[in-house]
Amino acid sequence: MRSKTPHNVKIAPSILTIDFGHLADAIAAAEAGSADMIHLDIMDGNFVPNISFGPLIVSTVRGLTDLPLDVHLMIQDADRYLSDFAEAGADILTVHVEACPHLHRTIQRTIELGCKSGVALNPGTPVESIREISPFVDMVLVMTVNPGFGGQRFIETSTSKIQRMRALLDEYNPTCDLEVDGGIGAHNIGDVVQRGANVIVAGSAVFNGTGDIAGNLSALRDGYAQVTSRRRKK
Ligand code: DX5
Ligand code: ZN
Repeated sequence: MRSKTPHNVKIAPSILTIDFGHLADAIAAAEAGSADMIHLDIMDGNFVPNISFGPLIVSTVRGLTDLPLDVHLMIQDADRYLSDFAEAGADILTVHVEACPHLHRTIQRTIELGCKSGVALNPGTPVESIREISPFVDMVLVMTVNPGFGGQRFIETSTSKIQRMRALLDEYNPTCDLEVDGGIGAHNIGDVVQRGANVIVAGSAVFNGTGDIAGNLSALRDGYAQVTSRRRKK
């Protein structure tokens, strides 16, 4: 399945599981390895069973790189914190459909704050749940693990969900980016790109303790290169 609108593939390393004592080194290495953006996972211990970090770290990362900051809000009551994350330097603010009762208002506020707007959905949430909001967002994030932790296994049924989401977006918002997050590495990136994902979050596949961040990013790019070169030939 291929979108009628061409979407450049972008890789967004997630810093969730890095050693924060070496935050600056991790960001510099991702940048040197030609990462397209930095993905920041905000967890509140309420919407998800883990607590990560808040606007202070986003602002620290903002001071370390000019790459776009892709902020994934896994929090309840996101409306209360949108301006804090915008002021901290977020470029994209993504909220969860399951955590936002007034989703349209939340998305409007994100846009008013000058950020790109994203909406995320959990593995158990149907594609159809974002249909009404889809014309208003810049990006849809299909979670391919249950949010809360890095290093989990990709849920295999997600491949068909990505394909169905791309079809829905082609109908309602063809230029919308489709992001995937969780359990993605060189072994399956080709498959998710083939199904229509174009913004690829990778945490443990990039920051896996080998120290070769640029090599890991390059392996990810090799993993989807065949898919995109086949497209160009067609
Ligand atoms: C999970 C987070 C992910 C996570 C990805 O809740 O949203 O961004 O850090 O990590 P990997 O790539 O290791 O699954
Ligand atoms: Zn994430």
